Amino acid sequence: MSNWKVFNKSGKHRVLVTKMLPGEEWLDILIGANYRIEVNLSNEITTKSEIVKKIGGNCKAIIGQLTENWDEALFQIFSSAGGVVYCNYAVGYNNVNVKAASKYKIAIGNTPGVLAETTSEMTVALTMACARRIVEADSFMGKGSFKGWLPNLFLGKRLYGSTLGIIGAGRIGSAFALMMIKAFQMNLIYFSNRENPDIENTINEYNNFLRKTNDKPVSVKRVMVIENLLREADVISLHTPLNEATHHMIDKNAFSIMKNDAILINTSRGSIIDEKSLVEHCENNPLFMAGLDVFENEPLMNDGLVDLDNIVVAPHIASATKWTREGMAKLSALNIKGVLENYAFSKSEDISLFLSQKPPNSIPSIVNSEVLYFK
Ligand code: DGY
Repeated sequence: MSNWKVFNKSGKHRVLVTKMLPGEEWLDILIGANYRIEVNLSNEITTKSEIVKKIGGNCKAIIGQLTENWDEALFQIFSSAGGVVYCNYAVGYNNVNVKAASKYKIAIGNTPGVLAETTSEMTVALTMACARRIVEADSFMGKGSFKGWLPNLFLGKRLYGSTLGIIGAGRIGSAFALMMIKAFQMNLIYFSNRENPDIENTINEYNNFLRKTNDKPVSVKRVMVIENLLREADVISLHTPLNEATHHMIDKNAFSIMKNDAILINTSRGSIIDEKSLVEHCENNPLFMAGLDVFENEPLMNDGLVDLDNIVVAPHIASATKWTREGMAKLSALNIKGVLENYAFSKSEDISLFLSQKPPNSIPSIVNSEVLYFK
């Protein structure tokens, strides 16, 4: 049951927010700009018909969620009601038809720059949960099965000095890789359509430090053929956006190439993995482990995912820290305000400027910024 609350009733523009967001700053920004804000307080996913009903005949801006399907029909309705900006409360926007929004000259915002470390920390947590079988061990303890130390109890996988493969080397992939390299001196293989000089330079500097401490330097290499990464990596982590090219990128064939005791982690989008093949692979290879924060048919879980001991699951919480979620809310509000007040786009990649007490009068992140030039 939806339950909408109105803030600043007589504000000059109507802004819909399809879920309550964490923190207060985002709301202060929108109220400070004198908008009327209508927020859905319900925890249930806001349905398309509910959104259409709420848009009504006059609505300028919307902050929506990755659980909603923002398709052409919805943007057409939003545009007819005077809509000019939609912000996805997420960095990923595979749920948004950006092309259709652009056709209606609706700007599409997202929230990059505040998720990288937080999401990477969760990726580390899932990797460790898999490598050291922490979830299985916790449930063993919960059942009272611990009868004393045993040489063979819950043998896991040593990460130190092994090989990490990341698929996608953007902000999150790079942050995760550096955490794992610095913690476990892992060697890195990355598959990416672009070379990443930043990560290579950082690893070279780190190697200078390792040499000084008489430790073995780590290696880094970029591969152009994904099979080379799948074959060599002990831990494989997915950090690529979901699109036609990456849908089911990890399929039956990919599993057949991986080491039989590899660890596969996904904190990106569920459909990058063919889950049916994953379940089959985990059933046939008990040493193989998967740590998943995202799923093909969220919130529904495909058969096998929650039952198998070698699959660890979490409910899409990789970005769920107070700091990050409040930062995402603030960026969403600033995207909305920036477009409605005709500010210029930010020229800086440094999102932290927008997190300060006095954010600049510019727009943090619009993925189809070219649409605004047609206004
Ligand atoms: C995103 O921002 O795309 C994340 O999936 C939300 O956690």
